[in-house]
Amino acid sequence: MTEHRSPDAKFRTSLLEENDGPATNPSDNRTMGEIIAARFSRRGFLKGSLAVSAIAATVSPLALVSADQARAAEGSAFAFDELEAGIDDKHHVAPGYDADVLLRWGDPLFADSPEFDPTKQSAQAQSRQFGYNNDYVGYIAIDGSAEHGLLVVNHEYTTPHLMFPGIVKIVEKDGKKSADVAPLSKEQVDVEMAAHGGTIVEIRKDGGKWQVVRDGKLNRRITSNTEMALSGPVAGHDRVKTNADPSGTKVFGTFNNCAGGVTPWGTYVMAEENIHGYFSGELPEGHKEAANYKRLGIPEGAYEWAAHHDRFDLSKEPNEANRFGWIVEVDVNDPTSTPRKRTAMGRFKHEGAESIVAKDGRVVFYLGDDERFDYAYKFVTKAAFNPNDRAANKDLLDDGTLHVAKFAEDGSVEWLPIVFGQGPLTPENGFASQADVLIETRRAADLLGATKMDRPEDIQPNGVNGKVYVMLTNNSKRKADQIDAANPRAENTFGHIIEIAEGGGDFAATRGKWEVLLKCGDPAVADVGATFSTATTANGWFGMPDNCAVDSAGRLWVATDGQGPKATGRTDGLWAVDTEGSARATSKLFFRVPIGAEMCGPLFAPDDQTAFVAVQHPGDGGEDWEAFGRPSYYEDLSTRWPDFKPDMPVRPAVVAITKQGGGKIAV
Ligand code: FEO
Ligand code: CA
Ligand code: CA
Repeated sequence: MTEHRSPDAKFRTSLLEENDGPATNPSDNRTMGEIIAARFSRRGFLKGSLAVSAIAATVSPLALVSADQARAAEGSAFAFDELEAGIDDKHHVAPGYDADVLLRWGDPLFADSPEFDPTKQSAQAQSRQFGYNNDYVGYIAIDGSAEHGLLVVNHEYTTPHLMFPGIVKIVEKDGKKSADVAPLSKEQVDVEMAAHGGTIVEIRKDGGKWQVVRDGKLNRRITSNTEMALSGPVAGHDRVKTNADPSGTKVFGTFNNCAGGVTPWGTYVMAEENIHGYFSGELPEGHKEAANYKRLGIPEGAYEWAAHHDRFDLSKEPNEANRFGWIVEVDVNDPTSTPRKRTAMGRFKHEGAESIVAKDGRVVFYLGDDERFDYAYKFVTKAAFNPNDRAANKDLLDDGTLHVAKFAEDGSVEWLPIVFGQGPLTPENGFASQADVLIETRRAADLLGATKMDRPEDIQPNGVNGKVYVMLTNNSKRKADQIDAANPRAENTFGHIIEIAEGGGDFAATRGKWEVLLKCGDPAVADVGATFSTATTANGWFGMPDNCAVDSAGRLWVATDGQGPKATGRTDGLWAVDTEGSARATSKLFFRVPIGAEMCGPLFAPDDQTAFVAVQHPGDGGEDWEAFGRPSYYEDLSTRWPDFKPDMPVRPAVVAITKQGGGKIAV
């Protein structure tokens, strides 16, 4: 008989990334989120498209057509007809576009891959199929083509209650329903490990539609068991040596790969984000890594991997967790290459790694640490990028300077170098080398006095206008006495976007200017303090900016994570945001996800004729059944997107958006 967990057991959800962090507000004050939630919960949902205009509790300034509004609308760089916001079980795209599912969880990637059968899952099958919960999407052209290339996709995490049949029982106690979730078997844990990591897959556009080239010779799955090398300053250090790897250079696998990037030399970089959830057990009493792990919330224990694999149990393998939290670089041109964890780029809850070549040829990577009150970073390579010799860039990421951002009230930003021996990063503070500094990047940044941000997620340089966009998802725990110019709202439920102009237009500069591009949330609710332009419609505003993309015209597109019936009365999606001229801070809805999902990707093909988006955790009811009206799990899903077949569970998938009749998106 299967032993079930207690009825208090929770579904594992995307909320992992919000579940920890310092509890800085112990008061019982209603948060802004709760006030908004009370407002939205008065309305039903799943009753078809929301009558968004009826939501506003106060008279919406959007209802008043002003000269300002007309001017802003006229100046917009985006010509598409806006999609209506709402919540239902399907995806939707603006009129005149097709949004075709390209790759679903379980889709075969190789000639010998088994077809997806959710009742016959195995680690072996999963390691030959598209993984779960697609997040970052990148495109690496083959022979310079915009219609034939490698799609690289991160698989951030797994959601057992949506993946595996027969593990959830709903129990009712005192009129309250909760989930009784069975512990996962070793076989299921091994499926999870194979469903993590990344996919590299050849795709080709034929007759205007993208196709997967099954068995493309560069197709590859990276999993939580793929052999990798630690490289850079931490490689071989005592703090990364384990029983299985006394050399401190060989690691098995990567996980919680959130966003990432494609380097100028055509490699794929994967960011290891919420690594704390995979570790369980207790460090031996008085262990030297205790403070280091506490700063990262390790162990969090949401995953059951330690029950079947000793390396995830801190009591048995206390150094294993130091081998995660890095940026991983994969040479996609050789499917047998060993991915390398580039330790020079620091260890924290890495969100992404978007890059740009600076004026002098050095390459600058922008790196968010997605946690409340954590930091924005950038890494500048020591050597210059060589555009004529790919091999010369092979180990560019092993040597360079990591910096952390300090935002000042006067609108300046300083990028502080994180270098052993400089400032407080000395033996007196417990650092004996650059390796120590990198293993404990967060503590080094604390000592340098970096600015505590509202969950820095994607940070995107824009080569067209020279700016950098920082997505700050939210921070409901920021108290009124903790606000600063760069994080200007207490109880920041809806997040904001900062725009940086690096000094002298040089992305490698250590000083720049910044301003808030947008405070997010419903502009019709005065207390929210959102700053969308008056041309932004009731469909056009959003909350919780997470991922973003810049198209080749330099236009900004923002994807969100965390909307839904309770937070904003609309699903997550992709919004086009004007950054220039009179239309600045005007936003328009372009695509929205089915219920329960967050929007990841996004990515524009080099010719701007396709927008790839990743629909992550569709059908996830989260733990908030009151808001969603019902639990959602394998046997009783809120959506069976994208197949809508009774015997097929909901499946995270990458969607390719193209304009009907062809042409560039949104022109
Ligand atoms: Fe994995 Fe911070 O989103
Ligand atoms: Ca993210
Ligand atoms: Ca997120």
